[in-house]
Amino acid sequence: MASLAEEAVLDGVMRVMARGFDPEYNEAWTRKQVTDMLAMPSGHLIVVDREGRRLARHGRVAGFALSRAAPGEEELLLIAVDPAHREAGLGARLLALLAADARARGGERLFLEMREGNPAVRLYDRIGFVPIGRRKEYYRTRSGHKLDAITFALTI
Ligand SMILES: CC(C)(COP(=O)(O)OP(=O)(O)OC[C@H]1O[C@@H](n2cnc3c(N)ncnc32)[C@H](O)[C@@H]1OP(=O)(O)O)[C@@H](O)C(=O)NCCC(=O)NCCS
Repeated sequence: MASLAEEAVLDGVMRVMARGFDPEYNEAWTRKQVTDMLAMPSGHLIVVDREGRRLARHGRVAGFALSRAAPGEEELLLIAVDPAHREAGLGARLLALLAADARARGGERLFLEMREGNPAVRLYDRIGFVPIGRRKEYYRTRSGHKLDAITFALTI
């Protein structure tokens, strides 16, 4: 993420980050966390506009997916769609793009971890993700509640 155009895309990602995550769950990443991840060869970012078109350097960001590749598999680290553009298929589109990219990198399985109770489970279920594990009380919310983490996997 060096050029001004790429910085503009990152600005858009951080705007969606700020609008898209409920502060109660401490899930949003800082800009530094994102750029540090993308500085690694294993870090990948997919960004789409409101029509679901992939953005590389220009355009208004409506949603993004950040992932980490490992041999034979890929982990979805974060996915968010701007609240103004939800329930229009952008989340599914991001996951389809990620599955295609991960497959092209040699991935055979896609993993993600979700806090219990996140309504995003409907999206993951519809795409075909299967729950494969649970970490008890893995997350702590801002108001002090403990929530399990559920691990999902998808063969791609
Ligand atoms: C999860 C998320 C990316 C889905 O984006 P989206 O563009 O709305 O997804 P789609 O339109 O492709 O699919 C939405 C499906 O999931 C359900 N869904 C997803 N998030 C939902 C929410 N917050 N509330 C209610 N339903 C939700 C929709 O009802 C729909 O299911 P259906 O097709 O059975 O009706 C988006 O809700 C979001 O940014 N959430 C906040 C960030 C987050 O929690 N990310 C996941 C953890 S990293």
